[in-house]
Amino acid sequence: MAFLAEQLKRIKPSATIAVTDKARALKAAGRNVIGLGAGEPDFDTPDNIKKAAIKAIETGKASKYTNVDGIIELKEAVVRKFKRENGLDYKTSQITIGTGGKQVLYNALVATLNPGDEVIIPAPYWVSYPEMVLLAGGEPVAVTTSFESGFKMKPEQLERAITQKSKWLIFNSPSNPTGAAYTKSELKAITDVLVKHPHVHVMSDDMYEHLVYDDFQFFSPAQLEPKLYDRTLTVNGVSKAYCMTGWRIGYGGGPEPLIKAIATLQSQSTSNPCSISQWAAVEALEGPQDFLKDWVASFQERRDLVVAMLNQAKGLNCPKPEGAFYVYPSCSGVIGKTTKGGTRIGNDEDFATALLEEESVAVVHGAAFGLSPFFRISYATGIKALDEACRRIQRFCGNLS
Ligand SMILES: Cc1ncc(COP(=O)(O)O)c(C=O)c1O
Repeated sequence: MAFLAEQLKRIKPSATIAVTDKARALKAAGRNVIGLGAGEPDFDTPDNIKKAAIKAIETGKASKYTNVDGIIELKEAVVRKFKRENGLDYKTSQITIGTGGKQVLYNALVATLNPGDEVIIPAPYWVSYPEMVLLAGGEPVAVTTSFESGFKMKPEQLERAITQKSKWLIFNSPSNPTGAAYTKSELKAITDVLVKHPHVHVMSDDMYEHLVYDDFQFFSPAQLEPKLYDRTLTVNGVSKAYCMTGWRIGYGGGPEPLIKAIATLQSQSTSNPCSISQWAAVEALEGPQDFLKDWVASFQERRDLVVAMLNQAKGLNCPKPEGAFYVYPSCSGVIGKTTKGGTRIGNDEDFATALLEEESVAVVHGAAFGLSPFFRISYATGIKALDEACRRIQRFCGNLS
């Protein structure tokens, strides 16, 4: 009898975490590595949020188990957030709080997928979506987008992907890994298709909602198309917008039966998300929001620098995305070439591996996100390091023969 579960054979470890670990190990060994693999902002959590956490500890509010799917104060803050920022009306009974948005997404899939159920995922996608679907016993159905379409799914592609077995569409805008964000009219074209197929539910991952540039206006599917409200789970969290990746708080708003099922699942697995972090998240959502403006301006400056510098690298082609803190350049122009160190680049993984080995810059290859030949750069790091990393990439590409 095998010791490890058969189910685990369906999934693979996260490539982004693997790259981050490898870069960390090389750094520890004394190499001057610039890590552009990690999907987290480099800023620190704002002080008012840290203070709210300390106060929760000191006043004994954080000492005990909380309600399994979140304290009422945080659910109320989330209700207000959805109303204020997205025009969405939820009751607290429609809100779930989880250990990161990741747990909310995973719980929702485990709570709803039966064997054979299909989940439509536009590619390139966040590495965890297909793996979570597989773990939950469902079948991921990738819809491959293109460089030419700005990595956005066309309505006719969605229409073609829908079958009687489609249970969910996982929709992520702005996107990890491409930074692409759907405009109001692009999203409307997608929601128009969904309206015609009432058995398809929408899991909207709005994690990067606040990180949009050039006056881009963000819309969430249930906000834009109220007909989808009853079958949409709107997921968000404090990780990216408030620089709280380590605190592990995410949340979702959706139909009551789904929210209840998630609570049952959570009650028999992790119980409540960290009490201290929940009180910190209340402050994040209800406290001052003005620091966001400065962060967004800083991210925009970094995006512009990285896009400009990558487009000067021989063989690379980098679109300018609307949001998040990622760019997803094509490296098709370097495939088939040989590096200065003598490595032949056969695909995007070879490119990323050789770049790390020869120039000590860590990026994640596109195959990990379901679309090659590309790679992902996270520009959530200081501008000096980004400038140096892009110079090294230019040198690396310039030395190819
Ligand atoms: C698209 C997307 N969704 C969800 C998450 C999960 O975020 P968290 O679990 O930290 O809330 C991430 C984190 O990288 C992400 O990139």
